[in-house]
Amino acid sequence: MPDPMLDVRAIDAFYGDFQALFGVSLRVNAGEVVAVIGANGAGKSTLLKTIAGLMHPKSGEIVFDGAAVGNAPAFNVVKRGIALVPEGRRLFPSLSVEENLLIGAQSKRPGPWTLKRIYDLFPVLAERRHLPAPSLSGGQQQMAAIGRALMSNPRLLLCDEISLGLAPIIVRDIYARLPAIAGEGLSVVIVEQDIAQALNASTQVYCLQEGRVALQGDAGDLTRERISAAYFGV
Ligand SMILES: Nc1ncnc2c1ncn2[C@@H]1O[C@H](COP(=O)(O)OP(=O)(O)OP(=O)(O)O)[C@@H](O)[C@H]1O
Ligand SMILES: [Mg+2]
Repeated sequence: MPDPMLDVRAIDAFYGDFQALFGVSLRVNAGEVVAVIGANGAGKSTLLKTIAGLMHPKSGEIVFDGAAVGNAPAFNVVKRGIALVPEGRRLFPSLSVEENLLIGAQSKRPGPWTLKRIYDLFPVLAERRHLPAPSLSGGQQQMAAIGRALMSNPRLLLCDEISLGLAPIIVRDIYARLPAIAGEGLSVVIVEQDIAQALNASTQVYCLQEGRVALQGDAGDLTRERISAAYFGV
């Protein structure tokens, strides 16, 4: 087995005294899409924030491209090629769509992602490039948030609930672009509450329950019954 691009090794994470992650391990190979599912409060966002360097694990280790991420500040983690599409999109409301996208390029990592390529991927953003970000629909804002993350030319893209609050047709539209994003050595971790969507989009699935990995396996091998049991703890 080749070394994974991302190797999360038994991390514990806390908010103050409250422990949110218990010995969580996760591996992502180059070009792979991995899904993390789990109920509200299971620790999905905490896991992504910790990988992105917004939080630091109290114990355990995160190894990316063979080197420990350690306690590097988030900006250095972006520079190493890890980009987060945060829960709730978090676009800068006073900036235009294009200005939001350009913020993603501040890490100055070389690579294939340019404004032009983002606009090719999401043509509606090109039409609306000069409008303030809040004037976009929810789905378009999500596209802008994904575009902003891609502008840092990541090798690993972390997506936190990109389908939340969006109409099913928009969700399908966004997920349809995933194959054009992943591959070429770019790996993706998606956090998703919709189990069917997660299984469809990924090759590996991790199910978190109360801060622990309750189930892990190939998307093709997991049955709905096993996932339900791991998801709800029944
Ligand atoms: N800033 C915080 N301060 C204290 N506790 C927090 C904070 N953020 C999250 N938690 C707690 O940590 C646990 C994991 O939360 P997390 O946001 O990672 O879950 P999640 O799986 O992303 O849930 P959701 O599906 O609702 O987004 C929850 O019990 C939550 O209440
Ligand atoms: Mg969350």
